[in-house]
Amino acid sequence: MSGHNKNKKLYNLLGYIIFFITFAVIITISIAVFVAVNREFQGNSTALAIIMILTILFLAGVCTLIDYFRRKITIQNPVNKILDATERLAEGDFSVRLDTDHAYGKYNDYDLIMENINVVARELGKSEILKSDFISNVSHEIKTPIAIIQNYTTLLQSKHISEEERNGYAKIVLEASKRLNNLVTNILKLNKLENQSITTEWEKVNIVSVLEECIISFEDILEEKELELNVDIDDCEIISSKTYLELIFNNLISNAIKFTDNGGKISILSKATADGVEVSVSDTGCGISKDAGAHIFDKFYQGDTSHSGEGNGLGLSLVKKVIDVLGGTINVQSEVGVGSTFTIRLKGRNE
Ligand SMILES: Nc1ncnc2c1ncn2[C@@H]1O[C@H](COP(=O)(O)OP(=O)(O)O)[C@@H](O)[C@H]1O
Ligand SMILES: [Mg+2]
Repeated sequence: MSGHNKNKKLYNLLGYIIFFITFAVIITISIAVFVAVNREFQGNSTALAIIMILTILFLAGVCTLIDYFRRKITIQNPVNKILDATERLAEGDFSVRLDTDHAYGKYNDYDLIMENINVVARELGKSEILKSDFISNVSHEIKTPIAIIQNYTTLLQSKHISEEERNGYAKIVLEASKRLNNLVTNILKLNKLENQSITTEWEKVNIVSVLEECIISFEDILEEKELELNVDIDDCEIISSKTYLELIFNNLISNAIKFTDNGGKISILSKATADGVEVSVSDTGCGISKDAGAHIFDKFYQGDTSHSGEGNGLGLSLVKKVIDVLGGTINVQSEVGVGSTFTIRLKGRNE
């Protein structure tokens, strides 16, 4: 920026010098003409006045002409370019890019405006792509449960099904509607976090009780999958948000359970750190490949397609957003076929 400011000052200085020289030249010419004419028409003041007026009119005309071209080149041309570009932007054409009139480093104010327009257009173009990706992802995620609901409610209308089949179909419909509900809830949460239209309720949170509550809610599925659970939690309290911590732990634990085969092991460790808390959730599940690892925090990304029906790929992106809001970090260590460990570090936030 300082480079641009320096150039701007030089550019302005040049303008003043040119104006000064033009002004000085005109006055000098006028005086020279006056002296010459005065010598020629000794005492004839009317002729002198007429010639002086004509000279001044001529010089003023020349100046106006010079100024017209100067304005056309230095002001009108870049302004027209900028106007065209902003009109195209306003119409939603984000492919617009402007070539600056001067090389980088020699920018004037107009070049800077053009560069800024290029940045705005590029960013708007990017968010347009993100938006359409988001819409196609959401539509895709919504379509499957809706198709299930339509098919099974049609089956439910049939008179020739047993009570057992009816209950089975109703259960499938219920599951699909739960999935839809879950999807919409997650999208709304993500949206709120991204727009920062949500205010964090800071409170004193006991890590032990939050983790215990979360673990208890998974008791049935842990038992069903015969998973061994190893818990070691330091007693610790931090200033944070209980709702957000629950969201983080629920997502990490549910992933650990989901991606671990029956009979595996899940460990939940937590220890107090100098300025907050560190919690890790480990499993002996399928693990995450390097390629998948680069995307697990992206919206709608699901690395393991065999479980795609049980989630929507929004869990970890929500976790990441929440951790950003709370002020912390999340790390993953994983080996395919061996297991994964998600470690989060949160600051305690001093009141
Ligand atoms: N504990 C884990 N073990 C193996 N893979 C995992 C684990 N946690 C997350 N993943 C991978 O990260 C992806 C994204 O996770 P997430 O955002 O929670 O979505 P979802 O659970 O809906 O698939 C998962 O689809 C999976 O491929
Ligand atoms: Mg998940």
